[in-house]
Amino acid sequence: MFQKIEISTGQSLSQIYFGFDWHRVTELLPSDTKVVIVTDNNLKLIYGDEFPDYPVLSVNPGETSKNLATISRLTEQLLKLGVDRKGFILGIGGGVVCDLAGFLASVYMRGIRFGFISTSLLSQVDASIGGKNGVNSRSAKNIIGLFNQPEFVICDISMLATLPEDEYLSGLTELLKAALIRDKQLVDKIDANYRSVLSRDSDLLNDLIIQSVQIKKRVVQEDERESGERKILNFGHTFGHAAESEYLIKHGIAVAWGMVAAMELANRNGYLHDADRKYVTQIIHKLGLLQGADIRGRDVAKKISSDKKRSGDSIDFVFLTGPGKCMLEKVSITDLVKFIRTFN
Ligand SMILES: NC(=O)c1ccc[n+]([C@@H]2O[C@H](COP(=O)([O-])OP(=O)(O)OC[C@H]3O[C@@H](n4cnc5c(N)ncnc54)[C@H](O)[C@@H]3O)[C@@H](O)[C@H]2O)c1
Repeated sequence: MFQKIEISTGQSLSQIYFGFDWHRVTELLPSDTKVVIVTDNNLKLIYGDEFPDYPVLSVNPGETSKNLATISRLTEQLLKLGVDRKGFILGIGGGVVCDLAGFLASVYMRGIRFGFISTSLLSQVDASIGGKNGVNSRSAKNIIGLFNQPEFVICDISMLATLPEDEYLSGLTELLKAALIRDKQLVDKIDANYRSVLSRDSDLLNDLIIQSVQIKKRVVQEDERESGERKILNFGHTFGHAAESEYLIKHGIAVAWGMVAAMELANRNGYLHDADRKYVTQIIHKLGLLQGADIRGRDVAKKISSDKKRSGDSIDFVFLTGPGKCMLEKVSITDLVKFIRTFN
């Protein structure tokens, strides 16, 4: 039996499938039109033999493919395959493939239909959910993009068995983040079962992914275009993004560090009790989310200062006020820089 979560925003409806064998994807695809698969070379190597029988366009794995040059190359390939406005793009991959395939489908011939088989933990709990699609410019991440919901997303946890450990931990950070901003019970469940979480216990994992997608669904349905409430999904990301681009480290490690730093700031401002800060910080450590992190606050401060032109003088910062609770408050970049310069 599979489970389905529907995300409806404005005029669009996105169906997210759990416990649904990805090999059955053809049941969700149109039969009367051209379907093209977009994937990366890792996924093609591991699962390519089992892909349904459609043309496959594959990119190099990783962030370096997420740019307009790739979109331009894929566009030429779609044209060569004769894909018209009725065509369908099936993205099979992690966050990079989903962001690329969603953007490509949204701009090709002013928009064709698309869906995802989401293969990394990070994309199952975050990147493939919520309709943000886009690519990086030379100097800024995700700066070129649009909102457009995939028709469907398949989250089949059997695919996570082949996911490398550091990628798994990166996804766990976003799963924990979702719990931290909205659901104390889920935080406690992750804490109580952290060993099974780390050993990728499939029933538990499926349940945790569904609950974290429910949280993202509620936030996205309230504010699809991030004019307010959706910003709470950025908990830990202000410092995290700066650390990620300064050190070119994995997103999850950077965000885990960013969450610890943001909690320290919340505690100093009197918004978060020390006991709560310690409780959440120990979960982050127990899960090993900071493994290999060697991040210095003063480097992150420099990065935030140099990005000031893009972010403006102040931002809506996400303060955790307890496990499962948070609030947005405007904070000046100058104050953030002053704080993070001394945080290690
Ligand atoms: N659109 C959004 O709302 C949103 C949200 C969060 C993150 N993102 C984006 O997501 C991207 C990061 O996603 P990611 O961490 O999935 O990165 P990714 O797509 O690069 O995948 C990470 C690595 O794991 C490999 N991989 C994926 N699934 C696998 C599997 N089942 N088995 C073996 N290997 C597998 C990939 O080939 C890649 O090498 C970033 O570009 C980020 O900006 C987007």
